[in-house]
Amino acid sequence: MKGIILAGGSGTRLMPLTTTTSKQLLPVYNKPLVYYPLSVLMLAGIRDILLISAPDQLPGFRNLLGDGSGLGIRLHYAPQPTPRGLADALIIGREFVGGAQVCLILGDNIFYGHELPMILREEIAKLDGCTVFGYPVADPERYGVALLDSAKQLIGLEEKPTRPHSNLAITGLYFYDNEALRYAAELTPSARGELEITDLNRRFLAEGRARLVYLGRGTAWLDTGTPDSLLEAGLFVQMLEKRQGVQIACLEEVAYRMGYIGARGLEELIRRAGPSSERGRYLARLLETAG
Ligand code: TTP
Repeated sequence: MKGIILAGGSGTRLMPLTTTTSKQLLPVYNKPLVYYPLSVLMLAGIRDILLISAPDQLPGFRNLLGDGSGLGIRLHYAPQPTPRGLADALIIGREFVGGAQVCLILGDNIFYGHELPMILREEIAKLDGCTVFGYPVADPERYGVALLDSAKQLIGLEEKPTRPHSNLAITGLYFYDNEALRYAAELTPSARGELEITDLNRRFLAEGRARLVYLGRGTAWLDTGTPDSLLEAGLFVQMLEKRQGVQIACLEEVAYRMGYIGARGLEELIRRAGPSSERGRYLARLLETAG
């Protein structure tokens, strides 16, 4: 399976923070926002990843992440000239994905949960058509919303409904079989002028090949689209990291724990981080205890 991080968009709700910087490069406590979705892909076992952003923002991401080789992954970059909608990612990524399955994750979504990596790997193994992840929220009208029958099977999907039929929001993480590329190319823009991911998911649903995985209390799904939610996400990460003494979305640690790099690779990353920096010391402790 290949991965796509969609990290463009207008970021209008975060202006003026996003006037010159991409939303996904803004800090969430001690690391840029894009680290969080990237760590999710890496934890799911996905190592070949395309990052899509606005043409003028791509150099920032490239400077930050490079080609991924230090982390034992392969990172590629592609521009999205205008924010034409989430499903556009599968059109832009067509060549990159080739004949593989694909995981799309939005560059501003933060997921956190002890069992999440295992859930994701299990779902990849089971994938047939499309798998989406639902999360209960207080304000479902802001999202794609799932409709379930009494047996908890997915029977409907609505995009930003004014009167939602459930409180189950569709999160920004999607698994697809390869035909999603063709289906995305066949989409027509919605009334708001976007290629809607909900329309793509509905096509799989109509074929009886869309599955919803419920992410309940054991997982946190955080949105970062507004000044308040961005700050709250940072405070959440700070609280967990300080309390537990472990980092969330530390890419170097994930690469090492997943076996993408060995002790030598980690030593090199410690050197680059600066051995006396907080991050360098954290990674050095990891090397000592895990090694
Ligand atoms: P949104 O939060 O819906 O939009 P936005 O980031 O442009 O912000 P605002 O509503 O404040 O203007 O986008 C969700 C994510 O998807 C976010 O990471 C941006 C990204 N995105 C793209 O990269 N391309 C697109 O065409 C769209 C619609 C979103």
